Parts: sequence; C-alpha cells; structure tokens
Amino acid sequence: MKKLIGVNKVKTAVFISGNGSNFKNLIRFSLLKNSPIRIECVISNNKNSNGLKYAYKTNIKKKIYNFNNRKNIDRSILLFLKKEKIKLICLAGFMKILSKNFIKRFNGKIINIHPSLLPKYKGLDTHQKAINNKDKYSGCTVHFVNSRLDSGKIILQKKIRILKKDNQKTLAQRILKQEHILYPKAITKIIASL
Ligand code: GRF
Repeated sequence: MKKLIGVNKVKTAVFISGNGSNFKNLIRFSLLKNSPIRIECVISNNKNSNGLKYAYKTNIKKKIYNFNNRKNIDRSILLFLKKEKIKLICLAGFMKILSKNFIKRFNGKIINIHPSLLPKYKGLDTHQKAINNKDKYSGCTVHFVNSRLDSGKIILQKKIRILKKDNQKTLAQRILKQEHILYPKAITKIIASL
C-alpha cells in the first residue's frame, strides 16, 4: 500500500455535540502514521461539548455555531469548510440535522456513526428500544448521510449480543467500545471513493 505522508491525507472535519469519545478516538486514528485522514477542524453546535477539550491538545481548529439561524449557518460552515479544503465530514454524536442543501454540497462525503443495527432504530433511544423489544442483538452502523435521517447507504456494521443483564447504560457502553473500532475501519474502507 502506498505510504500516506501528511500532504496526501484526506482533510477531515468532525462534527460533535456532546461527549466526544468518537472524536477523541478519531484523533488517535488520524495520528497513526498510515492513517488516511488528517483532522483539520471540529465543529460543534454546543460550546459546552466535552469533546471540544480534545482539540486543545492538538492543532485541530475549533468552531462553534449556533444552529438556530439555519440559513446563515449553512453558508458560513460551507465557506469555512471550503477554505479548509475539507473533503470528508465525520459526524460523531452530532445532534443537529444538516440541511438538504448542505448535504447536496458534500454529497457522498458525509458519514455518520449510529448506535443501532440500521435500518432498525433510527433516531434516538436506540438501546432502550432494542431492550424493550427483547432483541437478541444490537450494534452500531457507519453510513453515508443523505437527506433522510439515518437512512444513507451502510458502510459497515458491528453486531453484538444483548446480554440478559444489560440495561440501557451497559449496552450503550459496550456498543460505544465497538464504535471506536468500527469508525476508523469504515473510514479506511471508503477513503478511495472520495
Ligand atoms: C454514539 O453512540 C454515536 O453512535 C451516537 O452518539 C454517540 C456519541 O458518543 N451518534 P460520543 O460523543 O462520541 O462519545
């Protein structure tokens, strides 16, 4: 495989809203010698996102946008991403819906991680839904983002068994561990198609 030196790496933006463990993990992945991505910036709708602290320790630019003013927000984020020459957007616990126009401008270059075996349980409360329905398995999915919620083409999934003793919290924790393995794998898988 061709060695990836800094300049060849795909310039990536990560969008977060909260805890940021996936963001932290993607930073770790991006710093590996042969990683195909370089994280240039992190964008959040929430200035109190815990995840933003991980950007302090690196050269990753931090941007916080107030998503209440949708039209102008789209325009300014798009301008910023263009200036930064961003070629891949990774949503990682980002709790806002991107506009159709935004998605169109980055068509095929926005991916998301979701804590369920899509197409099961789009949206929120996925773990509780899986437990309530007495599902045997749950897991996580990395998928392309299209204009319908959690509905874009699936890139990779990881399935895990739901244990009898699992509650919402333990299941979420076990799945989050798998997310941290799956997201880098999915990025590596799609990078050639960007
Ligand atoms: C993850 O479970 C992810 O699948 C979902 O939101 C959660 C974010 O966790 N979209 P973190 O902020 O990366 O820790």
